[in-house]
Amino acid sequence: MNKLFNSMKIRNLEVKNRIAVPPMVIYNRTDDTGYVTDIQVEHYRKIAQGGPGLIIQEATCVEKDGRLCDSQIGIWEDGQIEGLKRITNAVHETGTPIFVQIHHGGVFGFMEETVCPSDIQCMVKGTMKKSRALTGLELHRIQNSFADAAERAYKAGYDGVELHGCHNYLISQFLNSRVNVRNDEYGNNPALFALEIIREIRKRTPDSFVVGMRLGAFEPTLADGIDHALIFQAEGIDFLNISFGFMQLSDPFKPDSYPFTDLIYGAQEIRKQVSVPVFTVGEIISPEQADEILTATGVDMVDIGRGTLVNPNWANDARNGKDTGACLHCKICMWRINPEKCPGRIRYERNNK
Ligand SMILES: Cc1cc2nc3c(=O)[nH]c(=O)nc-3n(C[C@H](O)[C@H](O)[C@H](O)COP(=O)(O)O)c2cc1C
Ligand code: SF4
Repeated sequence: MNKLFNSMKIRNLEVKNRIAVPPMVIYNRTDDTGYVTDIQVEHYRKIAQGGPGLIIQEATCVEKDGRLCDSQIGIWEDGQIEGLKRITNAVHETGTPIFVQIHHGGVFGFMEETVCPSDIQCMVKGTMKKSRALTGLELHRIQNSFADAAERAYKAGYDGVELHGCHNYLISQFLNSRVNVRNDEYGNNPALFALEIIREIRKRTPDSFVVGMRLGAFEPTLADGIDHALIFQAEGIDFLNISFGFMQLSDPFKPDSYPFTDLIYGAQEIRKQVSVPVFTVGEIISPEQADEILTATGVDMVDIGRGTLVNPNWANDARNGKDTGACLHCKICMWRINPEKCPGRIRYERNNK
């Protein structure tokens, strides 16, 4: 391996290797209160024991009305801090750093009435959904909820936060000029909503606290993705975790001859323009492939998502040259429905008794 097990720094945080576990919500592990449960603490403990350089906790909602499902972990009230602390303590016992992804669903929230930067009608989970534009007052309230959430994250012991700025959700809706057609300053400058949140988080958290962002490479085009990356770098963002943006209104792209996926291409092109650490993601199966991507593209970190759900010991097994298992890329990931039925996990456990 050339790069996979090299250490690196994110802001002042030491990260022992280039493997990040990206955020992954697992439904039905808490209830409508959004309070952390034992099974969630043990899930993160197990993943941390598996040797990744960094864990980014699943999308954790900053307002109850912004949730993507009725069993999403919350960080919208102080009472939630104690449970979140149990996760950070369990992960830190292994020496692994952990960030929490802070999230608001916007039109992709599960509530019947949702909000968006502008009035919109779009496909959400297979059905057409209408959403109304946020008023100025509501917009500022949600920005404040993100900052409150980051402050709680610091109190709960996280090493940093990742703003969920992609995958169709609220910040992605602001950044995408085909979704955000407001005719105020937040429409004229699609990054402003997130920029003001970052500024407020910096005011309220110590200098050592990491503030990163998961950002769409194509939002709606790669040129926009690069622009956003440069804007957030200028604001002092500590890392950019590159994925897809508002999917139904974006233009993913890669040259025909490019050997990896469009998402990896997007991350590579963004990394050429910025100096902050850039993460890439998407169906990275083997340690060899992960190492090749790091070497060939110049990106700094690879996300191993479903690979970690199949085998929480993925990073240790990769380092020791053992079978890491493989995600079978099912059409619908069973971890959204019934993790016990994950065929990759079942196969991995059968092969490694
Ligand atoms: C069960 C599940 C839940 C996910 N939840 C989140 C989430 O909370 N936040 C997020 O940004 N991405 C989420 N994702 C996307 C993953 O972080 C990752 O980008 C995706 O699985 C592709 O990477 P992989 O091929 O390594 O799994 C989720 C994916 C899965 C399978
Ligand atoms: S359920 Fe399928 S897609 Fe999800 S982690 Fe398991 S093998 Fe991969």
